[in-house]
Amino acid sequence: MAESVRVLLTEEEVDKRIKELGEAISRDYQGETVHLVCVLKGGVFFMCELAKRITVPVTMDFMSASSYGSSTKSSGVVKIVKDLDEPLKDRHVIIVEDIVDSGRTLSYLIKMLGDREPASIKLCTLLDKPERRVTDVKVDYTGFEIPDEFVVGYGLDYDQRYRNLPYIGVVEFN
Ligand code: IMP
Ligand code: MG
Repeated sequence: MAESVRVLLTEEEVDKRIKELGEAISRDYQGETVHLVCVLKGGVFFMCELAKRITVPVTMDFMSASSYGSSTKSSGVVKIVKDLDEPLKDRHVIIVEDIVDSGRTLSYLIKMLGDREPASIKLCTLLDKPERRVTDVKVDYTGFEIPDEFVVGYGLDYDQRYRNLPYIGVVEFN
């Protein structure tokens, strides 16, 4: 079966929106240092671009959580594959995700990281599929709300491919 990728959000649209999110975060965290926590691997392209657009001091850490399941659906069982290097105590944490789908990964992560006594904890996601939500997750910064379609690019993969696309696309099987 042949695969192709239809563009959903262009590189220009994504870059413009990330710049706006960076400006909003810079305004909201005046006088503070923001600690960005990247959820690997999908969040990494977004976090790097976002960090470049934040004008208050920024520190960064990385973690990896895998949700078991097929390549296109998350199962709800979250496993921490790589934990953070540094403690979160008294830091202003923003969890940076590629996409919130069912919300299961994030609701697990917020609880786990919230227990580490950060000064504050917020969520920033490039993409949100609100129709698919099964848990109640409050997202503080959203790049784009998108329909219930499987997307790739800008860090998001289909079987580990397409992460490097500089735009967001929908995989189509022809
Ligand atoms: P959730 O736990 O269902 O909210 O989603 C967890 C993870 O599933 C996301 O962080 C992505 O890694 C992956 N995921 C969900 N939807 C998509 C998609 O449309 N394309 C690629 N990965 C996705
Ligand atoms: Mg992810």
